[in-house]
Amino acid sequence: MSAPARVATFARLGMRSQTEAVAQTEAVIEKPASCRPFVNATFLRDPYPLYRELREAGPIHWSEEFFGGAWLLTRHEDVEAVLRDPLYSARRTGGWVMRGSEELRQALCPFQRLFSRAMLFLDAPDHTRLRQVLNAGFRPSALSASAGAIEHMVAGLMNGIDEAGQFDFMERIARPLPAMVIARLLGMDAADQPEFLAWSEDLAAFIGAPDPDQGLKRRAQVSLLKMCAAFEAILAQRREQGATVPDAAGDDLIGHLLRAEASGEVESGAELLAQCAMLLFAGHETTRNLLGNGLHALLSHPDQWRRLQRAPELLPNALRELLRYESPVQYTGRRVTTDVVLHGRRLRRGELVVPLIGAANRDPARYSNPDILDITRREGSHLSFGHGPHFCIGAALTLMEAEIAFRALSARWPGLELLDATPYWNGNPVYRGLTSLQVRCRPLMPTKGVS
Ligand code: HEM
Repeated sequence: MSAPARVATFARLGMRSQTEAVAQTEAVIEKPASCRPFVNATFLRDPYPLYRELREAGPIHWSEEFFGGAWLLTRHEDVEAVLRDPLYSARRTGGWVMRGSEELRQALCPFQRLFSRAMLFLDAPDHTRLRQVLNAGFRPSALSASAGAIEHMVAGLMNGIDEAGQFDFMERIARPLPAMVIARLLGMDAADQPEFLAWSEDLAAFIGAPDPDQGLKRRAQVSLLKMCAAFEAILAQRREQGATVPDAAGDDLIGHLLRAEASGEVESGAELLAQCAMLLFAGHETTRNLLGNGLHALLSHPDQWRRLQRAPELLPNALRELLRYESPVQYTGRRVTTDVVLHGRRLRRGELVVPLIGAANRDPARYSNPDILDITRREGSHLSFGHGPHFCIGAALTLMEAEIAFRALSARWPGLELLDATPYWNGNPVYRGLTSLQVRCRPLMPTKGVS
């Protein structure tokens, strides 16, 4: 970031410059009392009242619930600024092994070392190099080539559903579809999917836990190592088939990665495996929850669902609003690279910052009536795909996938309705989603007079 841009960032955050900020020793609070613990069943069901409470109490809070201590950011402006500021590093996996017994720390080292090589957890220049390699697999041409296949997958999943009856949307569509899509994009065999899905769920449970216990840590490690062993076998087979020869392996992500390995842009071993695991994991834990949370939000606001029936051209805008309203990734993390003062609090080098995306997306300073779902809202973009250099690489893919799925649902089952008013939230504070969503597909009810 250039010096003027850095000054601009600090100005927006209420400081004139980083140097000046650290020099302001007076009126700077070193470490305030921790905010009260809040990751409980009520929060996991509905985090938004607590986010509102925190946001109204101030823009930054210290909480000991997150990996032994972290600064929580609640406002849209701050979340956005921190995510694009290189002062806040994406290298944050060290905290995974900092706590616990020496024996546990040792045991978890292979896991931490491996996953820390994933692009998501790296800064420039390594991040930039890997992002360039992977960008090729997410080009519009690569995505539009997948559209037909995704339509086919959605139709196949819907065809298996009894038209007269009820079904669990999570089990029948939201869970399998993103796994099928990311497997195809990577260039994997569909038969491998159930095992990969189970491993990926262990990783999500670990990454989603603010303070994972030993059991979660060990399970995540075993699953990541098994996933990597399976990827190693796939990579070896692909190398044998000549995937490193330009165009010989088609345009899938494993092909791109293997060609980059052959040209020296990606290191063999841990770096290569970490990108495969990251893509598989990031590609379906999140999209599943966009589909589930999105359908739940629409069906529990029937006026919005009916509006979409009448004006299907609203779908891209509706998806943006669904992402804002119920973000599938509720927060992420960054580490402070140098002592800095933010809103009168001194943040020390190495401390963890948690930008609360879910809170930022409901910030009344940014959105009018933020707790209202309005599929016609046009107030700029949400932060659900992040911001800055780590902006979600799969955003266009996921939007295409969701558009295909919602268009097909709405066309075929316009009278879709919720069967169970109580949603079954998965209890994961980061990857907020439903474990089950019972719906009934029945013919369209008359919508006359409903706006
Ligand atoms: C609704 C769906 C999705 C949501 C809400 C979502 C959300 C996010 C967010 C918030 C980030 C930034 C994290 C940070 O800055 O710390 C991110 C990054 C990323 N996402 Fe997604 N994602 C979604 C779908 C996908 C899909 C389908 C893929 C892969 C096919 C994917 C792959 C990635 C990767 C690789 C990164 C890291 C990018 C980088 O470090 O440069 N995501 N995503």
